[in-house]
This record gives sequence, structure tokens and C-alpha cells, in this order.
Amino acid sequence: MINIAVLGYGTIGSGVVEVIDNNSDAIGRKIHNEIRVRHVLDLRDFPGDRVEPVLVHDFDVILNDPEVQIVVEVMGGVEPAYTFVKKCLLAGKSVCTSNKELVAAHGAELLRIAREKNINFLFEASVGGAIPIIRPLNSSLTADRILEIKGILNGTTNYILTQMDSAGQDFDTALRDAQELGFAERNPEADIEGFDACRKIAILASLAFGRTVNYEDIYTEGISAITATDMLYARKMDCKVKLLASCENADGKYYAMVAPFLVGSSHPLCGVNGVFNAIFVKGSELGDVMFYGSGAGKLPTACAVVADVVDSARHLNENIQTIWSEEKLHLTGTENAVRRFFVRVTGSVDEYRNVIDKEFGQAEYIKIEEDREGFGFVTPPLAEKSFDEHIKNIPNVSGRIRFEQ
Ligand code: HSE
Repeated sequence: MINIAVLGYGTIGSGVVEVIDNNSDAIGRKIHNEIRVRHVLDLRDFPGDRVEPVLVHDFDVILNDPEVQIVVEVMGGVEPAYTFVKKCLLAGKSVCTSNKELVAAHGAELLRIAREKNINFLFEASVGGAIPIIRPLNSSLTADRILEIKGILNGTTNYILTQMDSAGQDFDTALRDAQELGFAERNPEADIEGFDACRKIAILASLAFGRTVNYEDIYTEGISAITATDMLYARKMDCKVKLLASCENADGKYYAMVAPFLVGSSHPLCGVNGVFNAIFVKGSELGDVMFYGSGAGKLPTACAVVADVVDSARHLNENIQTIWSEEKLHLTGTENAVRRFFVRVTGSVDEYRNVIDKEFGQAEYIKIEEDREGFGFVTPPLAEKSFDEHIKNIPNVSGRIRFEQ
């Protein structure tokens, strides 16, 4: 019998208990043992619920129980999760978590403690929900040098952008619908401003490059400035607007960024719609691989957490090596990244053509019937810093979106 404790009985915590209950036979066959939920920690009571007999309100009950070998942390947020997880690892209990805030902020340190204690700190569910990406980065892809990771890592924003595109909704309506359907939080800031995707790409970059990428160093822009009119222009250009999180190793310089991009219809990430996530990995020898699936949701995410529990059970006194050191990885700013930009201007092309061509050379002008107030143009490829200098001289700019190369 392997005893586990679950910290937090919210959406993912209840999913973890459900998956373990529903799949106990299949899981048992895989580890030749039985997994039992011995404690569930939550501040609330759950009268009549399946976990009522094992519910505890005091973390120390779990910490001091020598029978608990594996702890599942699904509380979210950095504190008290960090304190609890660190104490569990120091006490020799493996930890499996879905908590990207915790992993992005303290992943390297918690991995080191697990290594020193010969146990495991696993976090497959922290990025991409049910999509296996942490484990592949740590095992199947280790023979190669990762040059780039680019992904749609946030289901909420991908759902909103998809609705704006396919149903012609404006941002506020699409967000409200997403909230009603449970795809967006009541306070959606972390998703729509890109902070969630930022933490996820910081985790992937740290694993891909082996050193700690500080999420606070990553340039991050959300989708709240994207309009229904932008979507119509995107369609005219045979593109979709996607919130992309990316990191790159180019000639020994490291870059990372989160921002909305215009993605052409031939790009594999263009067809990733709704709450789905996808992660595109480029290796120097292996070329391109892509991972696709449910990026969020109770049971898909819980399955990824339980898979980590299974792995921990299979390696009870053996650390599964993960290369992510506490040494900080310096990120180069994005100001020299060269790309095209789509810009919207209020006014007429005739009025602005001269100044735009003077600043950007030969721009490509785009007009759509629905935009009676203005027009769009696409710049030739240029560095971000050069774009920022020239765009200042164009009056009445109402928006700009980068092109994915
Ligand atoms: N809010 C996140 C998303 C949940 O929409 O992707 C999964 O991390």
C-alpha cells in the first residue's frame, strides 16, 4: 500500500481523488501496489463527500505521518504551497504538483532538495494540463539541443481568441462567455494579461536550457488590447491571432517572450483552437515536434498529476534526474528580434501613406470594408527597437500585432 496526501480539495484536488478512485485497478497493475488517499488537507469541510473521513485541516498531521510517502500539492499560489512542499521534501516525502506559480518561482531549489533526499519533485501538470511535455523534455528529447519552444500555453485566452475569430465576438463578450462556461476565472487577469503563460514558458525554458529562467525577466503582453476588428484584418491576411509563449537559443543567446502574434494558416499552431494547447519544439538534430491536447480542465490535469504519483511510486527511493540548476540564465532582450508588424491607423491611407512610407519604406496597405474608420498596414521585417522608434512618428495608431515568422 502506498499512502498519499492531497493538499487542496478544489477542482484539481477533487479530480485527483476521482481519477485514483476510478482507475485504481489500472494504476495498481502499473505499480504492483495499491495507492490510498490517506489525508486530504483543506480549510473547508465537505460533509457527505467521499473525502470527509480523511479530511484534515492541519498540515502537520500530514507532515508528521510517517505512512505518507507521496504528497500531491494542488492548492495553487506560491504560499503556503512553497512552505508545505519544502517541508514535505525535507521530511523525505515525494511531491507531485500542478502549481506553475510554485514551480516557476522555486522549481530549481525544490528539485535540488528532492535530489539530495533521493526522492522526487514532479510537476508534469504545471504546463499544458494533460499534455506530456515536462517528461519528454526530461527524457525523450535529451539527446538533442533544444533551439526553440513555442506554444499556445493558455486555454482561457485561446478560447477567447477563437470565439472572437469564429463568432465575431468582441473581447468583453468572449471573456464573459468564457467565464460563464468555466473556462475563465472570475478574476481573469493572470490569463488574459499573459502572466500564466509567462510562468509556463519560464518552466519550459528552464528545463530546455538547464538553468533557471526568471519569469520576471520575460517580456509579457496579454490579449486585452486585441479587438474584433483585428480579427477581421487577420482573416483578410489568412492568419489567426494567437497568444504565443516562446523561448529560443540562438547562437548562445537566450530569448523568451509572451505576446499575441499573427500566425499564418500554414503554421501548425494556427489550427489550435478553443481551450486546447499545443507546444512546438525545435531541436538541432531532431527538427520539429509538436505536442497537442487539453491544456486545462479538472480530469485532464488530474490525470497528469496522478501519472506523476505513479512515477513517484515506481521510484520511491530513487531520484529521477531533472536537469534544472539554480544558476540563473541571462535572457537577451527582444529589441533586436526582427519581424514584420501589422499596424492599424485611424484615418485614410491617402492621408498617411507618405509618413508611413517615410518611416517604414515599402509598407503593404490593407483595407477591409468593416473598418470604416481606418486602415491597416504591414511593415517590412525590422527589429523591435527600430519599429518602436518609427511608430512614434505615425499619428493615430490604434493597435499593432507582431507577425510570427
Ligand atoms: N488558466 C489556465 C489556462 C489553467 O487557461 O490554461 C491551466 O493552467
